[in-house]
Amino acid sequence: MAKESIFKVTIRPYGASYDCHPGESLLEASRKSGLVLANNCRQGECGTCKVRIRKGRIKLAPFMLSALSMPEIDADYTLACRSYPLTDVEILVELPGYPEARHYSRE
Ligand code: FES
Repeated sequence: MAKESIFKVTIRPYGASYDCHPGESLLEASRKSGLVLANNCRQGECGTCKVRIRKGRIKLAPFMLSALSMPEIDADYTLACRSYPLTDVEILVELPGYPEARHYSRE
């Protein structure tokens, strides 16, 4: 049986990183690591966890279009609570126009 990969998630522009295990969303893995991305509903409905993918690929689970629009997806935005890495990824959390997603904090 093939070993499942653990992917590295790097938070830009800060440079902090954490591991994301198979089956974990970007948000779940950040919470386990202590690097907590902005979040609220955790189920793809509010848009608070919106980040932009700078490098890498993710699988996006079902979400509400009120939380993330198709033009935003085309511009590489995603919802951390609904995103599952398929490769190492870099995410941008300082987003002009999305002040709610600007900061992460340590718990
Ligand atoms: S936390 Fe609400 S959409 Fe991700």
